[in-house]
Amino acid sequence: MKRLAVVILAAGKGTRMKSDLPKVMHEIAGKPMLRHVIDTCARLSADHVVVVAGPRMPTVEAAAAPHAVAHQMEQRGTGHAVGCARPAFGDKPFDEVLIVYGDTPLITAETLGRMVEERRQSDAAVVVLGMRVAPPNAYGRLVLDAAGNLDAIVEAAEASPDILELELCNSGVMVIDGSVLFDMVARIRNDNSKGEFYLTDIVGLARGDGRLARVVEAPARELVGVNSRADLAAAEAILQQRLRAAAMAGGATLVDPASVFLAADTVLGRDVVIGPNVVFGAGVTVGDRVQIKAFSHIEGARIGAGAIIGPFARLRPGSVLAEDVHIGNFVELKNAEIGRGAKANHLTYLGDVTVGAGSNIGAGTITVNYDGFGKYRTEIGERAFIGSNSSLVAPVRIGDGAMTAAGSVVTSDVAADAIAIGRARQVNKPGRAAEFRAAQRAKHKK
Ligand code: UD1
Ligand code: MG
Repeated sequence: MKRLAVVILAAGKGTRMKSDLPKVMHEIAGKPMLRHVIDTCARLSADHVVVVAGPRMPTVEAAAAPHAVAHQMEQRGTGHAVGCARPAFGDKPFDEVLIVYGDTPLITAETLGRMVEERRQSDAAVVVLGMRVAPPNAYGRLVLDAAGNLDAIVEAAEASPDILELELCNSGVMVIDGSVLFDMVARIRNDNSKGEFYLTDIVGLARGDGRLARVVEAPARELVGVNSRADLAAAEAILQQRLRAAAMAGGATLVDPASVFLAADTVLGRDVVIGPNVVFGAGVTVGDRVQIKAFSHIEGARIGAGAIIGPFARLRPGSVLAEDVHIGNFVELKNAEIGRGAKANHLTYLGDVTVGAGSNIGAGTITVNYDGFGKYRTEIGERAFIGSNSSLVAPVRIGDGAMTAAGSVVTSDVAADAIAIGRARQVNKPGRAAEFRAAQRAKHKK
């Protein structure tokens, strides 16, 4: 078995993001860019992953876990950054080391796999991932020899005008022969216009050693690097297109794909139908035949088969819906377990609640779960009927088959099959409306 290691460069602060967050922690499709890259590498079954982080980047370290983190204290170039990963390697040898950037989140496992394959087939010292980008641009240029092998990578800052005319550019991703990587990295010098240690110099070093360097190409769309908020939005748009296509290929109907926003981890069952303007945050699983109607916002929720959600529903984290639940317009759920076939169709807040199977939650019901200090739970049994505009002041229990009268403020537990009436008794005063109007007319002389 060949052993593969991955080094993810993530030490850049990302000055152009103008952010307190390290660049690689910015999210696309609800997941930090760094995690996208880590998850993609996981699909290659890498034996070892090292994330190179800058100083004081605790969020990057947390996102890298359980993988090794190496630190680059000062940004002295991509070659220097790779050198900083060495202590995190131990002494186990690797056949190949894959070098990727944490700010290039759309790269696919398929492309990386092709690179590793090319390295094994050709026994090249270095395989570089190239892309075609029309000049002018700031990428390093890939210079090929007559046989189509890679001769050199020339950084744009160092390139002559004719080299700058080349379309074949360096994406930055490389696969390097693990037996020579750190030896070559140690030989990189910084005698260039930026005074940096360019990883790209490794190609010239390999050629000087009589070794081969090769290029594998991938579409530039897959290799967009994120340096600014505008780049982040562009990467998001490309990823959303991919996720929508995958959702439809998996058997979901997206009535208006362009207005549905999915998270990288959204799981949709078969024959799910999603209306326009639906947004999925992280951590959503949707069962078969679920309908999600327009303008719903869903995150951290598990939706059982056959449920109907929305329009205009909001499911927040901790929402667990059994089969055939109906959640209608302007209903908000948080930390809510809803039993099979239960319904809350209109204008309701259900937070920190358990609702038993077959219960009906009337319009305007509010679980009063917060007193400014603590959060409290409401427990509603099976087949209960909560009258419209009930306030359920938690902690409180409503038994199986119990009812609450419309407009009730329920502050104490209701036994199974009981009715709670928690409101002032109605008083009717015959003729009083007419008397009132007559008195007012006299007063205002109308
Ligand atoms: C690099 C390549 C260039 C390529 C381009 C593709 C070099 C010398 N040049 O240029 O050929 O076309 O990427 O986008 O490699 N990083 C560190 N520590 C450092 C420097 C960089 O961790 O000291 C990380 C950055 O966070 C980033 C990546 O390495 O993720 C690339 O660095 P960047 O400065 O963007 O390199 P470019 O100048 O764009
Ligand atoms: Mg860059």
